[in-house]
Amino acid sequence: MREFIGKTMALARPYRGRLALGVLFGILAGLASPLLILSIKLVFDVVFPGADQTELEKWQEALKNAPIFIQKLAAAMNDWLHSTHDRPSNGVILLAISTVPLAMLLRGVFGYLNSYFLQWVGVRAVTDLRKQLFAHLNSLSLSFFHQTSTGELMSRISNDTSVLQGAITNNVAVLAKEPVTVISVLCYLFWKQPHLTVLVVLVFPICMVPLTVYARKVRKGSAAIQEQYVELSKIMHETFTGNRVIKAYNLEAAVEKQFSTSATGFIHHFMRVVRSLELPGPMIEFVGSVGVAFILIYVAFWSKVQMKQSDFLAFIIAIFTLYQPIKALTRLYHSMVQARASSERVFELLATKSTVAEPANPVPLKAAGADIHFDQLTFGYGEKTVLQDIRLTVRAGTLVALVGHTGSGKTTLTNLLLRFYDPNQGTIRIGDTDIRQVSLHDLRGQMAVVTQETILFNDTIRNNIALGRPGATEAEIVAAAKHANAHEFIIERPAGYDAQIGEKGGGLSGGQRQRLAIARAIVKDAPILLLDEATNALDTEMERAVQVALDELMKGRTTICIAHRLSTTQHANLIVVLDQGRIVETGTHAELFALGGIYHKLYSLQFPP
Ligand SMILES: Nc1ncnc2c1ncn2[C@@H]1O[C@H](COP(=O)(O)OP(=O)(O)OP(=O)(O)O)[C@@H](O)[C@H]1O
Ligand SMILES: [Mg+2]
Repeated sequence: MREFIGKTMALARPYRGRLALGVLFGILAGLASPLLILSIKLVFDVVFPGADQTELEKWQEALKNAPIFIQKLAAAMNDWLHSTHDRPSNGVILLAISTVPLAMLLRGVFGYLNSYFLQWVGVRAVTDLRKQLFAHLNSLSLSFFHQTSTGELMSRISNDTSVLQGAITNNVAVLAKEPVTVISVLCYLFWKQPHLTVLVVLVFPICMVPLTVYARKVRKGSAAIQEQYVELSKIMHETFTGNRVIKAYNLEAAVEKQFSTSATGFIHHFMRVVRSLELPGPMIEFVGSVGVAFILIYVAFWSKVQMKQSDFLAFIIAIFTLYQPIKALTRLYHSMVQARASSERVFELLATKSTVAEPANPVPLKAAGADIHFDQLTFGYGEKTVLQDIRLTVRAGTLVALVGHTGSGKTTLTNLLLRFYDPNQGTIRIGDTDIRQVSLHDLRGQMAVVTQETILFNDTIRNNIALGRPGATEAEIVAAAKHANAHEFIIERPAGYDAQIGEKGGGLSGGQRQRLAIARAIVKDAPILLLDEATNALDTEMERAVQVALDELMKGRTTICIAHRLSTTQHANLIVVLDQGRIVETGTHAELFALGGIYHKLYSLQFPP
């Protein structure tokens, strides 16, 4: 718990000014509670005469160390009360009565400011946490995202932090005000009724028993609820993004059942938490009131203490004033337990290290005109080795084609060059620079990629192309679209470049999506070009047209091109054949064809003699 509080406080550190203000007003609001009791007693004394006036002298005694002006005020008030005989003047009565709303006002204003400032801090601290988590997740390597489901991450960022926010904003306000209320009211009680108060204090620990018993249940239940949320998010994310398949295979009923099972499981955990949260309050109240009843019995039958009515009234009010803050404090405790349970995974995620580390002192990379060297590279995603002993030099400004059976490791090789993963052994150098010494931003900034599956965002066509290089001009975007043979289908749409393309480019054909991805790579204008099946979704005629544009684009750039259709790779300066993660053949088309190996076989299958 202490660790959790430490982490939460660290979040509030940037806002410590307001935090201090909030706590200060909380203390003032807490101190206003006994003030209220005092004023009620004062009114009682004044309105029901016969009460002895030495009361104010006692006050004066108590105020001995208070600032002078308060002492003077008290003295004046004392004189005033003493100057009247049996019944104080109407003015005095009105003045005394007015102290009640005044005390109430003070308590209200302080309470408001207390809550306002602490919530101000709370919502900002949690927003910071959310931003921090999002940025941190973004910085993690691809392998992390392959291991963790998107639904889970979304749920962690929105639901888990919400619980923390709820705990902070709803309950932190309680933190300063209520303990001060309890302590100050107890002080008042000790001052007035030491004997009875000892009894009250003895009852307290009994009240705390239910609290600790239920705290564990709250924590377990809350953690389970967050897990259910994660489960729901996973199902939702997968269903909505894969809706096409769900529909095509009539899977609606199956996913609905899954969702419903998960959603119903939630009820059980939720009710468990509700019981654990709601039971201790009334239990404490009941135990407390039994305690009060015993005190009353004691006063009525055994006590020799002769109590003034007003004193007794103040005593009872004081005890009941204690209820609310104690109840609030139990809620606070449970909330903290809840927040801790759900934020555990958030802090865990924040502590996750990226498997692809940024260099501490990055060196600048100059990729233009530099050869790319793969040196004895070995790599596997898990146990299984996917690439083995890769030695390859890609000369600056040339086109190298990677060919091979599916699963032979072609995409993996480009993943390593982009540093989505680091090799297990060996190095990749661009020029003389090991890519691990370069900042990821710099490295990836010098490569334009068209991936095997085209990734588009639910935005306008223009913005999807402009992602290649933020700040690209309209003319550059249109020129790139023309190069990628996309301009025509774009202007056919009523909204043209401003047309929304739907989630993942759902409103476009596969070939149109691919041409947008190519346009994006063209806009990027990077010295290294990685084309992974960049034209596989196009028909032969369109492919030829786009290929012309790509050939144009490749001029002066270092290009690694992956294609199953060997027609597109024939003209490469170097063809590299991968088989089960090893380079088995390298050479030009003519050389490899003459060799009569794997390349020859692949080529003959596609172009039968
Ligand atoms: N994220 C991953 N985690 C674990 N294994 C992976 C991952 N990605 C790919 N693999 C495995 O690595 C091997 C090589 O995959 P890769 O994607 O590099 O093949 P490829 O040559 O590009 O195939 P294709 O021509 O079908 O695109 C495959 O056996 C694949 O199952
Ligand atoms: Mg691939």
